[in-house]
Amino acid sequence: MASQVLVAANRGPLSYALDAEGTLSARRGGGGLVSGLSAALARQPEALWICAALSDADREAVRRGVAEPGVRMLDIDPAVYDGAYNGIANSVLWFTHHHLYDVPREPVFDAAFRRHWEAYVSYNRAFAEALAEEAGPGAAVLVQDYHLALVPGQLRELRPDLRIAHFTHTPWASPEFLGMLPDDIRGQLVWGMLGADRLGFHTRAWAHDFVRGAGRDDATGTAEPSWPTGTDGHGVAHRRTRPDGGGPGERRFTHVTPYPLGVDADDLRALAHRPEVDDKLAGLRAEVAGRRTIVRVDRTELSKNILRGLLAYRELLTAHPQWRERVVHLASAYPSRQDLAVYRAYTDSVRELAAEINAEFATPDWQPVLVSVEDDFARSLAAYRMADVALVNPVRDGMNLVAKEIPVVSEEGCALVLSTGAGAYEELKGDAITVNPYDVTATAEALHEALSMPREERAERTKRLAAAATALPPAAWFEAQLAALAGA
Ligand code: G6P
Repeated sequence: MASQVLVAANRGPLSYALDAEGTLSARRGGGGLVSGLSAALARQPEALWICAALSDADREAVRRGVAEPGVRMLDIDPAVYDGAYNGIANSVLWFTHHHLYDVPREPVFDAAFRRHWEAYVSYNRAFAEALAEEAGPGAAVLVQDYHLALVPGQLRELRPDLRIAHFTHTPWASPEFLGMLPDDIRGQLVWGMLGADRLGFHTRAWAHDFVRGAGRDDATGTAEPSWPTGTDGHGVAHRRTRPDGGGPGERRFTHVTPYPLGVDADDLRALAHRPEVDDKLAGLRAEVAGRRTIVRVDRTELSKNILRGLLAYRELLTAHPQWRERVVHLASAYPSRQDLAVYRAYTDSVRELAAEINAEFATPDWQPVLVSVEDDFARSLAAYRMADVALVNPVRDGMNLVAKEIPVVSEEGCALVLSTGAGAYEELKGDAITVNPYDVTATAEALHEALSMPREERAERTKRLAAAATALPPAAWFEAQLAALAGA
């Protein structure tokens, strides 16, 4: 049956694992996209979520037909998937949007890059074709993230009747960084995005970066910038070339709007008070033994700046020795994207630096850093509940939902040390202690200030942080985009 509301995202709500006996088990994926979309779609029972099979176990699940209702998993050729996901999405687009390149060595746009790009084009086309097949007349299609940047353009050619939105969960590269991409590739990327009626970003800053980049003369050869100072009509006017190459193309306007995803307070508090979390909390309390806690929870992700966070903690213990034996840093850094060598090396560096800090400062009954590399959501929630200080210091981050989740579930109020590079900075800066993510000394001082904050001030600030964090919970975030699309 044709659907009227469709979402497309690389990751689905669940991914599968296959054990030695051939039994499939399902688990929830990590990252902000899955948590936001799953919560939003829980209230959209008719919607169809199209995603990719990410592993052999997922492909096996497709073959056995075990997919859950409301989800269609695409079994894309593994080599094509690898080129698109590892080769382009996570090695090129992620690095470009997060400004992560080590420029004396990278990027290198060579023949191998071109092969990966071809894979990215066909992987996007597989999604566009599946959407074209599943969508009812005039349906609303909400495409997610940098993995699927070409889908809006491809889908518009297949199904001009559809209303198409795209939401980016990462930052968008500044025009200077976008300009590192080969001209033709940048043109395809912007053309793909501008196939949408509406583009969404987490913050005004990322939306603005998109419009500035798309408006460059050489971005597509066709886009003209449009960024009036009022609150209406933000976007890009452009002329789309006709697929047959003949005559002037259709003039279109793509709206570009910030929708800052927040968290659902009731859902999150209910999750954080399950018996399973209470058990983890009891365990953590025993380990911490009444000391203060600095909590961080991330995928082991280059942009999360975990190493400088640990360096800042070390500097705290050196510059303010009164905190020795009185604080524990609970760092949960669960593995991510381990197919990429640079992520494996980063994960090793995190473990090594934590071990160095422990070797330098530990005493017989105090371990300064407790690193957990398990993807254990219950343990993370337990850590949230007991956080005195939350450390969120990414170099650049689309939103960072952890910065929003911790104030909502923290029991006694927590002081939030927040990077200016996090999308959440736009909404939370008033009540956070904000830091330049590269400035280790300033981060150490911010941790000291956070640990020293009087209890009442901490509680007051946490209340305001929680209010800002829950301003646009996932269901409202999704419905706002759907409503805007209906008016498109
Ligand atoms: C970020 C991206 C998501 C992605 C998530 C986890 O939040 O914006 O699209 O799903 O990271 O990364 P992964 O590569 O494991 O899907």
